[in-house]
Amino acid sequence: MNQRREHRWPRPLEGRRARIWYGGDYNPDQWPEEVWDEDVRLMVKAGVNLVSVGIFSWAKIEPREDVYDFGWLDRIIDNLGKAGIAVDLASATASPPMWLTQAHPEVLWKDYRGDVCQPGGARQHWRPTSPVFCEYALKLCRAMAEHYKDNPYVVAWHVGNEYGCHNRFDYSEDAERAFQDWCEERYGTIEAVNDAWGTAFWAQHLNDFSEIVPPRFIGDGNFMNPGKLLDFKRFSSDALKSFYVAERDALAEITPEKPLTTNFMVSAGGSVLDYDDWGGEVDFVSNDHYFIPGEAHLDELAFSASLVDGISRKDPWFLMEHSTSAVNWRPINYRKEPGQLVRDSLAHVAMGADAVCYFQWRQSRSGAEKFHSAMLPHAGEDSQTFRDVCELGRDLGTLADEGLLGTKLAKSSVAIVFDYESEWASEHTATPTQNVHHIDEPLAWFRALADVGVTADVVPIRSNWDEYDVAILPSVYILSEENTRRVRDYVANGGKLIATYYTGISDERDHVWLGGYPGSIRDVVGVRIEEFAPMGSDWPGVPDHLDLDNGAVAHDIVDVIGSIGKDAKVLASFKDDPWTGMDGRPAIVSNPYGEGRSVYVGARLGRDGIARSLPMILETLGVEVKDSSDPDLLRIERVDESTGARFTFLFNRTKEPVSMLVEGRPVVMSLADCAGATVTINPNGVLVVKQ
Ligand code: GAL
Repeated sequence: MNQRREHRWPRPLEGRRARIWYGGDYNPDQWPEEVWDEDVRLMVKAGVNLVSVGIFSWAKIEPREDVYDFGWLDRIIDNLGKAGIAVDLASATASPPMWLTQAHPEVLWKDYRGDVCQPGGARQHWRPTSPVFCEYALKLCRAMAEHYKDNPYVVAWHVGNEYGCHNRFDYSEDAERAFQDWCEERYGTIEAVNDAWGTAFWAQHLNDFSEIVPPRFIGDGNFMNPGKLLDFKRFSSDALKSFYVAERDALAEITPEKPLTTNFMVSAGGSVLDYDDWGGEVDFVSNDHYFIPGEAHLDELAFSASLVDGISRKDPWFLMEHSTSAVNWRPINYRKEPGQLVRDSLAHVAMGADAVCYFQWRQSRSGAEKFHSAMLPHAGEDSQTFRDVCELGRDLGTLADEGLLGTKLAKSSVAIVFDYESEWASEHTATPTQNVHHIDEPLAWFRALADVGVTADVVPIRSNWDEYDVAILPSVYILSEENTRRVRDYVANGGKLIATYYTGISDERDHVWLGGYPGSIRDVVGVRIEEFAPMGSDWPGVPDHLDLDNGAVAHDIVDVIGSIGKDAKVLASFKDDPWTGMDGRPAIVSNPYGEGRSVYVGARLGRDGIARSLPMILETLGVEVKDSSDPDLLRIERVDESTGARFTFLFNRTKEPVSMLVEGRPVVMSLADCAGATVTINPNGVLVVKQ
């Protein structure tokens, strides 16, 4: 594995103290200059101390080839800096101008049918593997770096923007060549590719790397080779990463002292790139998170933020974008309820963010995102949103004064493992059921653990999950040889493992581990699965759920466990009609292995079923849950390991006020009241206490 870059964080402007960075994307080029003074005045009023500038400004900075106009950008950066607002300056390469794509249509990406992504209406219409595009982008990076290398107000580089958001998969001729090279580098010989992709199936044998093509259109209703698909996803993440690295290095060569980042899109809603792999290539991790409307809002946010903290390996990370209220890219764009603006931002902070930024500062008046909320809405300064933005600015100031910077998210005793490759493989179409993807299961466990009062850490599979008291492998479909060894060593050495259905099915080539699932860790978990039993409602009379004798109900899929190990113990079984073959079969099984123990959950139980089963599972593993834990609250702690200072963030997860006794001194509260040591946190409320 590549070495991770050393963590470097944007430094405060000269003469200013370190604060939690607070601000957002700022697009002054969308507004007449008369508006800029008001922008700066209101930013100061709100406590904004950093903005990201120039992300989509290529056409304005380089209006014609080799003609640069930095004047407007110099003026606004100067205005900002003099007011104490630092700049996270974009490489400005995210969206190429029309003159470039008209002169070089060969930089436009192609979809899997060969259709060209056209310029002129949207953004990110470039192909990551185009040498021509790379040359233009690097030229702009160098021009930006040369021009701003001595600018004291530019404290960080914002390289590109959300790589892969629109151009994740490119099927062009450039991509084909690069994919061939990537395969050659990964596999060495064409026979190794044949073996990895199982090309003996359906006459797909390859004689030479030049015969490799991207997984282009194969006809509706046909099935793409899954080994090739998985590698194309890896390749696409790597191709964008190489492009990012080239941009980063072009900037870093000229401005070595300025830290660089690019904004990831980590959320339970998708897995565009292998962000854990990318995490090693940035000086500080930054993330864009957009809330999921409805009842999962807070839990999903906390889950995703925890994963970002895992990707950042507990170093402070940067919330680069989220929304003050509605987005405008969903079919229905729900607003945030009162309190959620402050609550959501503080939930990211609780999970280790030392920077809180939004898309965007001022709501656009025209263009594709004019109905997207912003810090300064269409309604202007006299609005609840702007008042909340100001309140949050004060809260972040208080937290910094109280010493929050320097603390880190406290390590939980429970790790939930997340794996990008398992998600990618489980998204393919030729699987036991289309309704089961890796990504849903970690979130269900995170929520169910919160329901029994435990806030788990969500950590990538490459990280140190095997140093936790309890490790959960939730539908980690791919277990490479190396990860198999880690699982075996972990339990053998005393680890407490929870593994679920759809874990350890295939190796890293998506070749099934044979002999009964989960093939490479059967003896560790003490079960041998002969078949999957998916469930659904697409045909009359098919099973759509299965009951367990502990009251939990399985949906979508269960395992048909044929036998269990000699020392294994059944914790729960299925209850069904006698002729289905499921009645009395083991559903949850515990097994000793070496010094440790595992619990295998052979059913998709969802949040409720997991929460119902958890007390029994945790007891079997010998895990105690503190009596003080309250499932109505999400409790997240940040600690300073050297001083012992501790900040406890408490969030109301319910629709009712929650009261409790608190230890420590309340430092920040929103929608919460204190009466002596008793605190009441209202729905959408948050309380931060310091001990
Ligand atoms: C992000 C993007 C921003 C803006 C925002 C709206 O994906 O980086 O430029 O489009 O979404 O939610």
